Amino acid sequence: MTLIAPSLLSADFSKLAKEIKDVEKAGADLIHWDVMDGHFVPNLTFGPCVIKANRAYTKLPFDVHLMVDRPDKLIDQCVEAGADMITVHMESACRVADCVSHIHALGKKAGISIKPQTRVSEIIPFIPEIDLVLVMSVEPGKGGQAFQAQALEKIVVLKDLIGRKKVQISVDGGINPETAEACRFAGANILVAGTSVFKAGSYAKAIRLLKGDQ
Ligand code: DX5
Ligand code: ZN
Repeated sequence: MTLIAPSLLSADFSKLAKEIKDVEKAGADLIHWDVMDGHFVPNLTFGPCVIKANRAYTKLPFDVHLMVDRPDKLIDQCVEAGADMITVHMESACRVADCVSHIHALGKKAGISIKPQTRVSEIIPFIPEIDLVLVMSVEPGKGGQAFQAQALEKIVVLKDLIGRKKVQISVDGGINPETAEACRFAGANILVAGTSVFKAGSYAKAIRLLKGDQ
């Protein structure tokens, strides 16, 4: 089954709680939070305080994507804020293996993300330890960019490497009904989508289309 994780980056920041409740009602499976620090990526978004303030408005898992230089410094606060899954970037300025153990020690799921220019081979040593690989199909930092098709090859390779292990493959950036179909076919389990959900007239229809339902 494919899970849909609407990215709040494209939501109306002046009414996040309502946006979260609306996508839950519309069939979302996870809520994706893009935490940006203005260093790892130029943009600056929200952090643990904002995540925590919205935790009570949904029962859906919070999928926190840390696009920050030092994810290690935010893990405790994100867990305290109600994160269920925390993804750190392979390219960040800290030891990702330590971040993964720290997240697990706090009882949460741990993911590692790779940017478009980072090779899948870099993630291989971590596969036995992680719950999720997040393949970036755009340069991290902003919504509304075009899907980079090289992500599909990465998903296929990862699917093969993961085999029967319980590691989910998530893909993030430029997901619309067409690219979603290609990602599902390649083997992705989680589709992160900002623009194609929050800029759609009907969130429910947008989510159904991403899942491949009519
Ligand atoms: C990009 C973020 C994405 C972003 C995707 O840095 O990680 O989650 O919100 O936005 P769309 O779906 O508009 O490409
Ligand atoms: Zn993201």
